[in-house]
Amino acid sequence: MVQQVAKESVGTKGNHKRTTIFTYTHTKRTDIEEDIRSLQLDSAEENNGVVNPGDARPEEVEVVDKMEEDSEEVQAVSQPVHPEPKVKHKEVSAVEDAESQQETEGNNKRHLNVVFIGHVDAGKSTTGGQILFLSGQVDDRTIQKYEKEAKDKSRESWYMAYIMDTNEEERIKGKTVEVGRAHFETETTRFTILDAPGHKSYVPNMISGASQADIGVLVISARKGEFETGFEKGGQTREHVMLAKTLGVTKLLLVVNKMDDHTVNWSKERYDEIESKMTPFLKASGYNVKKDVQFLPISGLMGLNMKTRVDKSLCPWWNGPCLFEALDRIEITPRDPNGPFRMPIIDKFKDMGTVVMGKVESGSVREGDSLLVMPNKAQVKVLAIYCDDNRVRHAGPGENLRIRLSGIEEEDILSGFVLSSVAKPVAAVTEFIAQLQILELLDNAIFTAGYKAVLHIHAVVEECEIVELLHQIDLKTKKPMKKKVLFVKNGAIVVCRIQVNNSICTEKFADFAQLGRFTLRTEGKTVAVGKVTELPTGSRICWENMCLPVRARTSSLGCGTGLKVPPTVGALLRIPRG
Ligand code: GTP
Ligand code: MG
Repeated sequence: MVQQVAKESVGTKGNHKRTTIFTYTHTKRTDIEEDIRSLQLDSAEENNGVVNPGDARPEEVEVVDKMEEDSEEVQAVSQPVHPEPKVKHKEVSAVEDAESQQETEGNNKRHLNVVFIGHVDAGKSTTGGQILFLSGQVDDRTIQKYEKEAKDKSRESWYMAYIMDTNEEERIKGKTVEVGRAHFETETTRFTILDAPGHKSYVPNMISGASQADIGVLVISARKGEFETGFEKGGQTREHVMLAKTLGVTKLLLVVNKMDDHTVNWSKERYDEIESKMTPFLKASGYNVKKDVQFLPISGLMGLNMKTRVDKSLCPWWNGPCLFEALDRIEITPRDPNGPFRMPIIDKFKDMGTVVMGKVESGSVREGDSLLVMPNKAQVKVLAIYCDDNRVRHAGPGENLRIRLSGIEEEDILSGFVLSSVAKPVAAVTEFIAQLQILELLDNAIFTAGYKAVLHIHAVVEECEIVELLHQIDLKTKKPMKKKVLFVKNGAIVVCRIQVNNSICTEKFADFAQLGRFTLRTEGKTVAVGKVTELPTGSRICWENMCLPVRARTSSLGCGTGLKVPPTVGALLRIPRG
């Protein structure tokens, strides 16, 4: 079967100056973590963010043939000054071969989206690259080529990361910028890897990756000083964990990486130290460490304890699973394949029609289906469905798809639009009520009516304004406080009315968690996390009364888009099958 190595991410062409460090002061952090927990974004009603092994039933995913990957680059929507980086995507094409066209096996397995998160240089891309190497998708010759290229760039040890870091900027700097996307399989599961950047400037990209993920691999470097920088000294580990939890990543594998490093040398003491320091923090972030988190030591660079368990002679104290085993064993809440269809569009391009990309958050889709592109209310027909590289007739929830549509032009679609069921369309609103957890405002600013921020909700990035504070929630009783609230400060939970200039697709968190959870960011800092609790009546169109399709908006923030659409020639990475 064709194993797809791809690259997809939220880009960062925006104002880097405005993306400033997100750090909590130590004293405030504990309170904030408790409050995030109390927000209970992963409530019992949530079951939309994950895919069930049973959902992708063999009969539901019928392979037809291969998708042609040729596509054009799409012009970015013209964007005025923007407080956040724009969203963009990069895709690296898969190897295409005749043999792969008949391959159907992968589709019979369950499918999971795994986001790799963690502080800069923790080894996320190296580990992701190693997974592709160990699963036979990258051959020795390619590795040798990368070794040479890395050496030429004086980045010898980065050659494994080059498998995921496919663009020149990333290779020169040794830092992931855009979320790398790749596929691999174990015995029971097809995985989509989303390799997020660790650098603080690229948090919006990380948010985009995490919002598509079911589970997370939190990579922590065990190298002397690196764990400390990433975790204790204001590194990205904390922000990534908090964002992952908020964005619906319900399970975490915490890999203690670089165990081969000479400062670590597979030391049990170092591993235990990291586990004991991370555990209280993960608990405070809302993870049930016993049920939702699994720790394990690895060396991403050497590929140890990854596909097979680490040799006892090297690490006699480890009796747990290797990475592939742990990934295989993760169980997540089932998702309803019969729910109303919802697929937030993360990207679009022209290829014998209009092709949209995204992850199915609810329901199923079949060739020939009539759907709506919301919020423009455009009626479209599904001409073809592609899952990884295979054309399929039908696909269920949790799948990453490309869907070829008729009835809409590519330029009428923006990232953040939602491909939706006709009978039960997604809500399209310019206003909603939400429960917000204030994290840390810029310079301890106060949060009041008139506060403006950038809303990140599924694939939407849109400027918003808090127009009214309705009531504050008592942190102890979790009940609304009686007295009128005019402003709140860091750590508060508040229910408020939020407006956006352009209509966006959203849902109540209780109904579709993945479409109803969001973060607010200002000048590169995550200032609040929230969930949509109420939508205005009339936010759902009635099919009978539907107006004619409208043209896509040309929002100043463009629903976060300024898309570079896959695959651009320069970004092509053709990896021979192993
Ligand atoms: P960003 O994308 O910038 O956030 O970094 P990253 O987490 O993807 O790290 P990357 O994979 O680029 O690796 C950073 C450096 O750590 C490189 O020099 C790697 O060779 C090194 N590294 C990664 N994993 C290991 C490991 O298991 N052992 C050792 N010794 N070095 C490692
Ligand atoms: Mg990386």
